[in-house]
Amino acid sequence: MQLLVTGGMGFIGSNFIHYWLKNHPADTIINFDNLTYAANPASLQDCSHNPRYHFVKGDIVDEVAVDQVMSGTDVVVHFAAESHVDRSIDNPTLFVRTNVLGTYVLLSAALKHSVKRFHHISTDEVFGSVNRLDPQDFFRENRPYNPTSPYAASKASSDHFVRSFFKTFGLPVTISNCSNNYGPFQNPEKFIPRMITNVLNNQKIPVYGQGDNIRDWLYVEDHCSAIDTILNKGKVGETYCIGGLKDGSTNLNLVKTVLQVMGKNIDQINYVPDRPGHDDYRVDWTKINQQLGWTPKHTLEEGIKATIQWYQQNSDWWTNSKKEAELFYQKLNNYQHTSYEKK
Ligand code: NAD
Ligand code: DAU
Repeated sequence: MQLLVTGGMGFIGSNFIHYWLKNHPADTIINFDNLTYAANPASLQDCSHNPRYHFVKGDIVDEVAVDQVMSGTDVVVHFAAESHVDRSIDNPTLFVRTNVLGTYVLLSAALKHSVKRFHHISTDEVFGSVNRLDPQDFFRENRPYNPTSPYAASKASSDHFVRSFFKTFGLPVTISNCSNNYGPFQNPEKFIPRMITNVLNNQKIPVYGQGDNIRDWLYVEDHCSAIDTILNKGKVGETYCIGGLKDGSTNLNLVKTVLQVMGKNIDQINYVPDRPGHDDYRVDWTKINQQLGWTPKHTLEEGIKATIQWYQQNSDWWTNSKKEAELFYQKLNNYQHTSYEKK
């Protein structure tokens, strides 16, 4: 089988490619990625001589390039996106272009080339926010979409296009809406690697607001196995929510876990202005668990320990992207302070 993986030089895509090459020895993968700031080719350096792996540099918005790369594809696994909420607050246009238009271009090409499955990687953020005070409030597949950030709105829109290609044209699609991933090869602009690399660099951990926002966390390898399960056993036209915890965790609890494993105390926390439109998420992953038999294998504590160890041992991988991430945050903070002053 030939897979077209979009965005395979990013965090989850590169983990997925490692996972798939290891677990599906008869398959070949084409990784189509235009190498934005979020890509790190070093993540797949070890695959560069693997005859079952090919990298093609290209933009998912480019119809000609997408048409060419789609030829011969059996299955598309679509990760490529602008993925960072804070950047979507800074520059929403790029999110519309890549996440909405790019997904549409891929769907059109997949239809033309009669691919057997188009799996769309989406996010729990399309649902908006759970009620923090109601511990029974979870995102489930039938919850109405209510995105709040430009990132979430662009992903919600792409989900609607994917469903429309199933209903209108019969393209065999599946969608997964997953919670926050963490693990090796994640850009240090995201919370968990930002915390770990800050501690390793003797810097404080910036916590937005009071640290009381709620997230569900999933070790990235478990996300890869969930996608594998959906590709194997999932029903065409269906959506599956994927999560890792039974209940959500506050950011503050997560910080404390990381600090404890790294042998530091809460003096390392620096409370900073909150993210505008900051949501809370809890995910109910009963459907994929009961209907397809998937279950995450890593506890949060195990996953955090493995992730800390990986960042301790791979500073060459993250040093440059860390500098770039902190420059971005400097710019964002200036912008946020300016808009607070205006209010
Ligand atoms: P990432 O930002 O680490 O990587 C995105 C990749 O897409 C990069 O390699 C980038 O170069 C590529 N890309 C961006 N624009 C492109 C374009 N126009 N053409 C081709 N390639 C392009 O993202 P990630 O965290 O690995 O997320 C992957 C997918 O999973 C995204 O669709 C995201 O919405 C979704 N998701 C992420 C999480 C998470 O916690 N990270 C959770 C749920 C869903
Ligand atoms: O829920 C799935 C989503 O998870 C994915 O769709 C996104 O692609 C992915 O980036 C992630 O979005 P979040 O906005 O939740 O991730 P982030 O790592 O940016 O932030 C996690 C939480 O930590 C959030 O509540 C904001 C907070 N935070 C983040 C950073 C970077 C801080 O308190 N301090 C920080 O420095």
